[in-house]
Amino acid sequence: MNVAEHTPPLVDMADLSVSFTGGRAPVKAVSGVSLQVRRGETVALIGESGSGKSVTLRTMLMLHAARRTQLGGKLMVAGRDVLAMKERELADYRGKVASMIFQEPLLALDPVYTVGAQIVESIRRHETVSAAEAHARALKLFERVRIPSPERRLAAYPHEMSGGMRQRAMIALALACNPQLLLADEPTTALDATVQIQVLILLRELQQELGLSIVFVTHDIGAALEVADRIAVMYAGRIVEEGTARELIHAPRHPYTIALLRSRAHGAMAKGQRLVTIAGSPPDLSRLPPGCAFAERCRWAEDACRTQQPPAVELAPGHRARCLRTDATAEASSPA
Ligand SMILES: Nc1ncnc2c1ncn2[C@@H]1O[C@H](COP(=O)(O)OP(=O)(O)OP(=O)(O)O)[C@@H](O)[C@H]1O
Ligand SMILES: [Mg+2]
Repeated sequence: MNVAEHTPPLVDMADLSVSFTGGRAPVKAVSGVSLQVRRGETVALIGESGSGKSVTLRTMLMLHAARRTQLGGKLMVAGRDVLAMKERELADYRGKVASMIFQEPLLALDPVYTVGAQIVESIRRHETVSAAEAHARALKLFERVRIPSPERRLAAYPHEMSGGMRQRAMIALALACNPQLLLADEPTTALDATVQIQVLILLRELQQELGLSIVFVTHDIGAALEVADRIAVMYAGRIVEEGTARELIHAPRHPYTIALLRSRAHGAMAKGQRLVTIAGSPPDLSRLPPGCAFAERCRWAEDACRTQQPPAVELAPGHRARCLRTDATAEASSPA
């Protein structure tokens, strides 16, 4: 057992729920998600489109329009109660405690300022330091994210950089105020395969050098296996299974995880392979069934699955599945 296991987790999310109101019926995008992320740990969120991965991530930065969003449960990050924060606290929290990188760097970077100016501005917004000092830190950050000729590139505008360099510049900007938590929503899908791997390796190195905790969303199981310590599988706004990357890929126990992995050629872990859809469609989030949301698509489902929420079953330390039939799935879970 290492020291990290004795200190409180950096992220402590308990029974988090997020509903969007404003439509005819509230859309339950996230229903009772519990997730803990330790310091220095990398967690991947995977699952089909619409399963609530982005909403979960955006809630950690409180990026939803407050008026149309109903939040429930508990979310502590670095000892701060995120759901209770007022705008001023949030402005301090975003960037300094938790920071986000997006799939498209051009959305995070301002086209009319040089990248260097944006990093300097971000540092000086959060801290009282001189312009020269902030510039020196920006230069260090560019070196840290392995941007060649960093001094010259700090003076470049976003459109003057290649896709891969822009991604690195965005990561530098996200790290400007030394956050402890880096959130990444499909950080690599917009890039070609070689650049993708380089960015993933960079994230991994930064995580080790800076002791960052990372939560990232991906459709790429190969990427999740390569970069993540733990994987959480989402379905219809719930985490249906979580465990170490290895355990989850080699011994999945929730029928949805099994189907997800099976739908890829015999469990092959080829990089860049995307999740293929499973027969049937996910439920309407404004009319969730009382039981397991996957029951309609599940070959193991029994009557009980349709009437009650399956509790989380602990299969091994840290490996949990929300399923009543984990006994039956045990046989099916060995890779084909
Ligand atoms: N602001 C919003 N208002 C209403 N519904 C929303 C809002 N944001 C997300 N949703 C709905 O919440 C559900 C979960 O969305 P989310 O973006 O988290 O999915 P995802 O798992 O990230 O999918 P993808 O893999 O396609 O990115 C979807 O049904 C989506 O339409
Ligand atoms: Mg998404």
